[in-house]
Amino acid sequence: MTALYDTIGTTYGRYRRPDLRVQAAIDAALGDAKTVVNIGAGSGSYEPAGLIIAVEPARTMIAQRPIGSAPVVQAVAEHLPFRDKQFDAALAILTTHHWPDPRAGLREMARISHKQIILTHNDAAFANFWLTVEYIPELPRLDLAERFMPPIEDTMRITDIIPVPVPWDCTDGFLCSYWRRPEMYLDPDARAAISGLALLGDDITGPAINRLAADIKSGAWDARYGHLRELDELDLGYRIIVAEGVIG
Ligand SMILES: C[S@@+](CC[C@H](N)C(=O)[O-])C[C@H]1O[C@@H](n2cnc3c(N)ncnc32)[C@H](O)[C@@H]1O
Repeated sequence: MTALYDTIGTTYGRYRRPDLRVQAAIDAALGDAKTVVNIGAGSGSYEPAGLIIAVEPARTMIAQRPIGSAPVVQAVAEHLPFRDKQFDAALAILTTHHWPDPRAGLREMARISHKQIILTHNDAAFANFWLTVEYIPELPRLDLAERFMPPIEDTMRITDIIPVPVPWDCTDGFLCSYWRRPEMYLDPDARAAISGLALLGDDITGPAINRLAADIKSGAWDARYGHLRELDELDLGYRIIVAEGVIG
């Protein structure tokens, strides 16, 4: 997965700009945490002012961190080079589903911090989203239960779950961000910044995207999903999980 982000990371900075509304939700969850570590930090989106250090394995992502951002350690979540309870909070934003051993990474987060803040999505988000249902069923369709991927419930002592609706004009182009702007999925650079699509490759996404383009042009997409164009935000299963330690 590190290798994946060394490859797909090249358009990340342009298409995955932090969204201020998502940022506000993360900042609220962090509360008065003064010392914060950001795990799977990527190019540095959503890092709070008090951030002490970032952890990121992919060099391509590290290279895109803005000048003046917090120092970064090249490491993986599963082996964090920090002391027990060194930080008030550990952040993990849209990254836990990439970790080869998520349970080990989550345990490490709990070891080094008092509070853990994880932005992730539940499986239902994929199973119900029009892009998955209608065009790219090869995207992981797990089950319709409100489970989180990876199964954070099995590992973490969860104290809060905060829904993060996706604004219609979300500046952070993650998989479901273009729910009201289907035209955006036609942009190969936008797709390249979405790991789920980049992983599938053009053999699978190419024909699906051609079908989407034809449906947009003919009005078929609007006939089926045009009602979405009336909405300002949509709950697509993204959640901030607040945890304090692990179960057991
Ligand atoms: C979708 S990006 C999210 C980056 C950033 N948190 C953000 O919100 O823009 C996922 C990140 O997880 C990183 N990653 C992959 N495997 C990891 C691991 N085992 N430990 C920590 N980070 C990992 C990737 O290199 C990538 O930068």
